[in-house]
Amino acid sequence: MTPTEIAQLNLNFADATPETILSYCAQRFPGKVILSSSMGNEDQMLTHLIGSAKIAIQIITLDTGRLFAETYSLIERTNERYGISIRIMFPDAAQVEEMVNAKGVNLFYESVGNRKLCCHIRKIAPLKRALAGMDCWITGLRREQSEYRADMQLFEWDDEYGILKVNPLINLKEAEVWSFITENHVPYNKLHDKNFKSIGCQPCTRAVTDGDDARSGRWWWEDANHKECGLHERQ
Ligand code: ADX
Ligand code: SF4
Repeated sequence: MTPTEIAQLNLNFADATPETILSYCAQRFPGKVILSSSMGNEDQMLTHLIGSAKIAIQIITLDTGRLFAETYSLIERTNERYGISIRIMFPDAAQVEEMVNAKGVNLFYESVGNRKLCCHIRKIAPLKRALAGMDCWITGLRREQSEYRADMQLFEWDDEYGILKVNPLINLKEAEVWSFITENHVPYNKLHDKNFKSIGCQPCTRAVTDGDDARSGRWWWEDANHKECGLHERQ
C-alpha cells in the first residue's frame, strides 16, 4: 500500500467510529485481518465491537508464559461472553529455555538489553508469526498513552512487520474507554480494581498511585525513555 493511499484512508476515516473502521478492514482484507489483544481495556473494547457485531476479524493474544492469573481468567471470561476463541500464541520453547538457562528466569531486571531480549523472544517473535501472511493488523494503541505514541496515526504502514497497522482508538481518552467498558459491561482485568493501569507481564507490571502516568507501572525500574517492549517500535 502506498503512502498516498494510507494518507487517503486517514482522511476518509478521520471521523469514523471504531466499529466502522473495523468493518471496513474486515471487508477490504477478508480473512487477513488480526487484532492483537493484550486483554487491556482498549483491546477489550475492540473485542466487544468485533464479538457483538460478528465482524470477521481474528483475535490473538501473546501468552508470554509470565502473565497474571487475572489475565488468564479474563481470556476465559471473554471467550465465554462473546462465544469466541481468542488464539493463544506461545513463544518458541527452545528459545525460552536457552535464554533462561543462560541468563536466569528473571533476567529482565538485570539490564535493558536482557529485558528487550525477553520481550523479543516472548512477544515480538510470536507476533511476527501471527502476522505472517496477514494484510492488516489492528491494535488498541492510543496517542494519549505516552509521548512516544503521540504522533501515531489511525492507519500506518509498519515497516518492521510489513503490514498495514490500524489503530481505531488512536484519539480516545482513557476515560472514554472506561465509559465504554462500564456501559457495555465488557469484561475487564480485575487488577484494575487494585490500582493497576497498563497491564503486561506479572514480573514487569506493578500498581500505580492515583495521578501517576498510566504506564509508570510497566518496567518501573527502567528509565522512562525505554518503556516500549518493541512491539510498536518504529525505524
Ligand atoms: S506494550 O508494548 O506496552 O506491551 P500495551 O500494553 O500498551 O503495549 O498495548 C498496546 C497494544 O500492543 C495492544 O493494544 C495490543 O495490540 C498490543 N499488545 C501488547 N501486549 C500484547 C499481548 N500480550 N498480546 C497481544 N497483543 C499485545
Ligand atoms: Fe519478559 Fe517482562 Fe517483556 Fe514479559 S514484559 S516478555 S516478562 S521482559
